[in-house]
Amino acid sequence: MRSLIVATGNTGKFEEIKSLLPNEFDTFYSLRDFEENIEVEEDSPLYVENALKKARKIGDRFGIYTIADDSGLEVEALGGKPGIHSSRYGSNDDERIEKLLTELEGIPWEKRGATFKAYLAFYIPENERSYVFYGHLTGYIGFKKKGSGGFGFDPVFYISELKKHLAELTREEKNRISHRGKAVYAFKNFLNTDFFKSPRVLNL
Ligand code: IMP
Repeated sequence: MRSLIVATGNTGKFEEIKSLLPNEFDTFYSLRDFEENIEVEEDSPLYVENALKKARKIGDRFGIYTIADDSGLEVEALGGKPGIHSSRYGSNDDERIEKLLTELEGIPWEKRGATFKAYLAFYIPENERSYVFYGHLTGYIGFKKKGSGGFGFDPVFYISELKKHLAELTREEKNRISHRGKAVYAFKNFLNTDFFKSPRVLNL
């Protein structure tokens, strides 16, 4: 029986990741499933280091395979902000969106380019090895909210190719194109490699 901890308390993230790995694990846990509150200070300026730190700390505490995603939204007109600080940009999604739209007031469409980035760290407690997977999605920050799906900045993230905002997509549609979807897809392929399936990966 294979279990996986998705080291997040963010329900949106957890549900997205879980739905992308339907056959890979029997049981999924999020941090909401544990009474113990393990503090992981995300103090690096690099997504990748925060993701690795989180995966290692949680994986070592519970002795279960763990993945941690550190992600963010980088807006060109704001010099890459909010970026690594995306989750701390406001105290809830509505506040974060309001702040973003206010900062972009008067900025024309062609300068509202933005990229979502996701780094996914996978940690194996048995041998203390970590692997990192990456995905990104480019689009534009719209002028007002649209749609009710997803989470975070999804209602204001416009994808020109689809002529839709991320929050207007179903979970499956978002997963197919999103930064996190691409990173999880790479992780899923890794789980199916001969390398991962061989005893070598567990350092035996
Ligand atoms: P983290 O939990 O530190 O990785 O914070 C990621 C933050 O980036 C979230 O709280 C959202 O504000 C934003 N974010 C990351 N991925 C997405 C997404 O798929 N949709 C919308 N917002 C996202």
